[in-house]
Amino acid sequence: MRPDAMEEFGSGIQQAVLAGGSASGRLAEDVRWGLSQPRKQLHSQYLYDSLGSRLFEAICALPEYRVTQAEQKLLDRYSNLIVSDLEGPVTLVELGPGSGEKLAQLIEPLLRNNIGVNVELVDISEAALDLATRTLTRFPSVPVFCHEAVYLDGLQRSIKRRHDAGSLLVAFLGSSLGNFAPSSAHTFLSNIQTVLRAGDRFLLGLDLVKPEQELTLAYDDPLGVTAAFNRNILVRLNRELAADFDLEWFGHRVIWNFASSSIEMYLESLCEQKVSIPGADCQIRFKEGEYIWTESSYKYTTSQIVSAGMESGFATRGQWVDEEVKFAVTAFEVL
Ligand code: TRP
Repeated sequence: MRPDAMEEFGSGIQQAVLAGGSASGRLAEDVRWGLSQPRKQLHSQYLYDSLGSRLFEAICALPEYRVTQAEQKLLDRYSNLIVSDLEGPVTLVELGPGSGEKLAQLIEPLLRNNIGVNVELVDISEAALDLATRTLTRFPSVPVFCHEAVYLDGLQRSIKRRHDAGSLLVAFLGSSLGNFAPSSAHTFLSNIQTVLRAGDRFLLGLDLVKPEQELTLAYDDPLGVTAAFNRNILVRLNRELAADFDLEWFGHRVIWNFASSSIEMYLESLCEQKVSIPGADCQIRFKEGEYIWTESSYKYTTSQIVSAGMESGFATRGQWVDEEVKFAVTAFEVL
């Protein structure tokens, strides 16, 4: 898959949703477009329906997928330091909160110091928002507000609700920035920087380059949870667009692209077949061995992360690295 093709797709979706369409309303159009490209693709945002979000939580608990454990460990150790000089009241915005556990780690030291906290959660998946909200009920004094939206849209809505005084920290964890092609990642960081104001913080968790075997195992686990997560996008198309994908004939494939430093995820057609998708008004032919690209996960070096932030107008305040797993949490500030 050409990186520029991924980029076209990613930015097209974000802009369309920002322009006012709902993510679900665009499913049929996006599927028809993606599957009629010479290199077939389905946008990764459609992996996260209600079951997909639960399967993703299961991925985060897999021993082979060490991103979540490493990030949690770093936050366990350093969240105190990360939030130490934030003035209250603190607005914490999390883009893609997952289980909400990592946000809880940032909230605890603030409450311990009697600093008021309010939370804004942004996710395209209602199931993910529900899960995170439930986790945060353990802090009865912390108001939680949910935005079912794409990242930037939700961030803008969160910012409108901020207090005039106090500080704002935006967390973008779980290596989600890695799912953008590098030039889109750069645009995304610049857009975030633009909507924030001087003194605001941005906390970025990103997975680092590591040996190929560890990477492929993390995205193709022996239990088959990641395979189920990937193939569930076809279950969703069967349900929501009355498609007739035969799950038995699509396999989960993972490739490490050394040149672009990214894990690429595909669904491979295991035979020559024709699939009809009435809800998207199309029929799609697959050759045996043909791939549908569903997701990429770019891996960074610690210095690339610092440069990416700086090029987008952020100053680096700190970077904490799990040297064993190879994962970094980096704190930026808007100057
Ligand atoms: N942000 C996560 C990552 O790239 C998302 C992820 C983990 C993922 N495992 C996946 C996405 C499997 C698709 C398929 O690490």
